[in-house]
Amino acid sequence: MKLRLFFTPNGLTEDQILGRTTVVIDVLRATSVAAVALKNGAREIIPVATLGDASGMRAKLDPSMVVLGGERDGRKVEGFDLGNSPFEYGPERIEKKSIVLATTNGSAALLIGSEGDHCLACAIINTSEVARRLAEIKQDIAVICSGNKGGFSLEDTLCGGMLIDRLKSSSDNLSLENDAAWVALDIFNKHKHDLETALKQSDHGTTLVNLGFERDVNYCSQADKIEICPVWKSGRLIRLDSE
Ligand code: MLT
Repeated sequence: MKLRLFFTPNGLTEDQILGRTTVVIDVLRATSVAAVALKNGAREIIPVATLGDASGMRAKLDPSMVVLGGERDGRKVEGFDLGNSPFEYGPERIEKKSIVLATTNGSAALLIGSEGDHCLACAIINTSEVARRLAEIKQDIAVICSGNKGGFSLEDTLCGGMLIDRLKSSSDNLSLENDAAWVALDIFNKHKHDLETALKQSDHGTTLVNLGFERDVNYCSQADKIEICPVWKSGRLIRLDSE
């Protein structure tokens, strides 16, 4: 298996993901929320690029079965049902519901990643489960970090490195194809004994703590807390076991 990693989805071309399984990462917080929501019984997550797309999608679905979630500048959007904190996605709010998710970086990256042969959503809380699925698919991999407003993000790169670490320990035929993949592995190795501190030092981690979301950052830094692998299918993310 060959693996290449992209620090951001900017400038990604079709041929860089063609014929590969993509793994999209947005640790703070979109892919963490996707994993939590599916664990708590959401029917599906429908990522959309804009707030307008979110309202448009809601209008197409049964109003009693849809929940609008997401953020702009880390905060819940006016008129939305939920923000982008994993703690808002408990079973009482989202069980059996379709979640239309509009976040700043993660939703857009998922839409780009969905062009891969398979597309999986990864965060620190479910990395090992994603690695297990990749080992079954046995295809070359493109890891797409969502980044932060077009730039590099420490937490997504670190999570990409954690995924490489997990894949390396389960397979001896993984080869890293670009410098970014090696850098991600180095960053993970540097911080692996204290992911929470690393996340709090990151740009977006600091922003979230300042907005009062320290609990989210703590939660999102827990390695392999849940065994859920969100997979892309026909315009939405669903649980691997409900495929
Ligand atoms: C994003 O997609 O940019 C995020 O998940 C941001 C956030 O939750 O604060």
